[in-house]
Amino acid sequence: MTASKSTSAPNFETILSPALLPLYSLHGKTVVIIDILRATSSICVGFHSGVSLFHPVAHPDQALALEKEGFIGAAERNGKKLDGFSLGNSPFDYLSSHLKNKKVAITTTNGTRCLHLSYEADEIIIGSFLNLKAVAAYCKHKNQDVIAFCAGWKDKFNLEDTLFAGALANSLSADFTIECDSTLAAIDLYSNAKNNLSSYIKKASHAQRFERFGIEHDIDFCMQNSIYDFVPRMVGDNLVI
Ligand code: MLT
Repeated sequence: MTASKSTSAPNFETILSPALLPLYSLHGKTVVIIDILRATSSICVGFHSGVSLFHPVAHPDQALALEKEGFIGAAERNGKKLDGFSLGNSPFDYLSSHLKNKKVAITTTNGTRCLHLSYEADEIIIGSFLNLKAVAAYCKHKNQDVIAFCAGWKDKFNLEDTLFAGALANSLSADFTIECDSTLAAIDLYSNAKNNLSSYIKKASHAQRFERFGIEHDIDFCMQNSIYDFVPRMVGDNLVI
């Protein structure tokens, strides 16, 4: 007989695209921002390299302006680093000792937009396969309703973010109430792919885009499981660990 969940178990919901955000309430919930390829993965790499904070901005010109205040500007649009910036959105841009104690002003096509859209949440944290176990432990310990927020691609559904939402929900299924069809579908997607995640994700549209750009090695890096044990979270307007 399986242990029955407490009736007060927190809920786990999944937003499959920012376009669906108006259908959900973020109040009183922990929102996990998910942009596996590559914003949330690269942000975790940056913190591993010693970045002191990430300041998400909406426009590249804001990132450039902050360079005058000692920030390092990072900008990506449509999967490519913008001219004039030393950092884009590849995890390999952030594997550098030169980033220790640096502040990074970052803007990406989808990921930083989701951070800004989540302002009503009780707390905003960063999820990636790179810190999956740490995010699961954080959510379990906090015991608060969770919304997995998939950044997708320009409001379209994408496989990799939903896969992560399914992996996270699957690891929390004993402690959370899961009645959200998006989450149930994400869990099934993850169950279908979990034994060969990296090869599964190679068929995703974003992965195909990366292959055309010759940066498929970014995919393998971002699909590593739980190599970091921290959870970046928003404090004020900045991400810190
Ligand atoms: C994003 O933030 O939109 C994605 O990570 C785009 C990318 O890095 O290719």
